[in-house]
Amino acid sequence: MSFAQPALSDAAQSFLSSHAKANLLIGGSWTGAKSGDVFPTLDPATGETLAEVAMAGTADVDAAVAAARKALPGWRATPPVERAKLLWAIADAIEANIDELAEIETLDQGKPLYVGRWAEIPGAVNQFRFFGGQAMAIEGQTIESSINYQPEGKQMATWTNRQPVGVVAAILPWNSPLVLTAMKLAPALAAGCTVVLKPAEDTSLSSIRLAELMIEAGLPEGVLNIVTGMGAETGAALAAHPDVNKVAFTGSTATGRAILDGAKGNLKKVTLELGGKSPMIVMPDADLDLAIPGVANAIFFNGGQVCVAGSRLYAHKDIFNDLIEGVVAYGKGMAAGHGLDPATQMGPLVSARQADKVATYVKGAADAGATVHSGGELFGPANTFMSPTVITGVDNAMPLVREEVFGPVLAAQPFEDVESVVEAANDSDYGLAASIWTESLSHAHRISERIEAGTVWINCHLMYDAALPIGGMKQSGWGRDSGRQALDSYLEWKTICAVV
Ligand code: NAI
Ligand code: MG
Repeated sequence: MSFAQPALSDAAQSFLSSHAKANLLIGGSWTGAKSGDVFPTLDPATGETLAEVAMAGTADVDAAVAAARKALPGWRATPPVERAKLLWAIADAIEANIDELAEIETLDQGKPLYVGRWAEIPGAVNQFRFFGGQAMAIEGQTIESSINYQPEGKQMATWTNRQPVGVVAAILPWNSPLVLTAMKLAPALAAGCTVVLKPAEDTSLSSIRLAELMIEAGLPEGVLNIVTGMGAETGAALAAHPDVNKVAFTGSTATGRAILDGAKGNLKKVTLELGGKSPMIVMPDADLDLAIPGVANAIFFNGGQVCVAGSRLYAHKDIFNDLIEGVVAYGKGMAAGHGLDPATQMGPLVSARQADKVATYVKGAADAGATVHSGGELFGPANTFMSPTVITGVDNAMPLVREEVFGPVLAAQPFEDVESVVEAANDSDYGLAASIWTESLSHAHRISERIEAGTVWINCHLMYDAALPIGGMKQSGWGRDSGRQALDSYLEWKTICAVV
């Protein structure tokens, strides 16, 4: 187990030194905060500072929004094929620089290299490819109306068209920065919107590198602007800004509510991809060779810092012990270490703050009588690592089972029958995702119909695609990312009613 930071590539090294303190992107220029304020971003594996990042204040946010507003008429008038070509060029540029981007993402976020390199960043590429195509498929409708108004020699014509919502504020979290950023930028730019992006304070770096690549790919100035900074200042200023038309947010449910409060001044449009507490239901007839690694990955991938992580397990009592034994063994086989070490399967949590939060949930459950089969303790130079953790003896009333933990912590309960497990799975404020593990088509179909979740996976979990809408029911959010549904959320309908 090695926690030390391995040697960096020349590309990553040169990126880290090139952008110190001047990483706000406003109207096509890189600049520092007007106040000169900066804050550090850390390597969470070691706790050491990687770079100083500009702390945007309200004056910087105003300048970024003004730049996005200025760029809007030109960008929305750009022919769809030109918007598509830019998005595809961005996809190509990400792909050509994927090793460096994965390295930066791992350094700043902590995640094992393979998570960014083979899962998330290819997902970001697909977002730009998919929405490049969608830019050329925006369509309204002609509608036969029943309006009874027909001046002599004239007729009514009625139709709808789509127009970009305008300036979009994209406020992003720290768990999967690049792919989640792509999930906002690609549909927004395809729709003809311009964007002010606020990355999470723990993970600003990959979006800065992405923006450099986008500029090289031909991004017109002002179409994307970046303000780095804290949520309560930079993020809140953006959410409340009177000249922003829409906020596209991914993050916690509590912050989603704060954003709604901020957005109400000018009634801007809001889409929210919020927390989850996604149940996994394993039926007695499940193929355990599929379910054991599937369940383990659903909660341990990216250290459980995934909005759709399978954090609640409901396994039938006949296979409960075998499944738990298998998942514990799988977790114990995952190598912890610095994310840049290619052998690493478990990196650190994103920050000491997040690690403490996760450990507090585990301790609370243990104090209440739950059994911790593996993991649960923090370790490593900055106390940010936690091994895969499996906990039984829990119930739906415990905070560990009700609240989003966002760590590699599985809370498992046995069940006896379908009725009780559907009820238990739906007994949650959240409704983001779920998975059902069974060989029975009837169980798969009937249970999936009844689960209150925006996505239900059958015999798999964490399967994303740019074409598949993802988002939440209940307190997991409003609207959808990915798919045509995401594009829709960056477009207004306009009805035209004409006497011609
Ligand atoms: P957060 O939701 O507060 O942060 C997400 C983004 O919102 C960051 O860019 C942050 O700067 C910004 N932000 C914070 N306060 C804001 C405000 N008042 N106005 C506008 N923007 C604001 O997440 P945080 O506090 O870093 O993590 C706490 C918990 O949130 C995690 O433990 C996890 O449970 C959950 N979370 C959920 C995510 C998801 O994908 N559903 C992603 C990240 C965190
Ligand atoms: Mg960091």
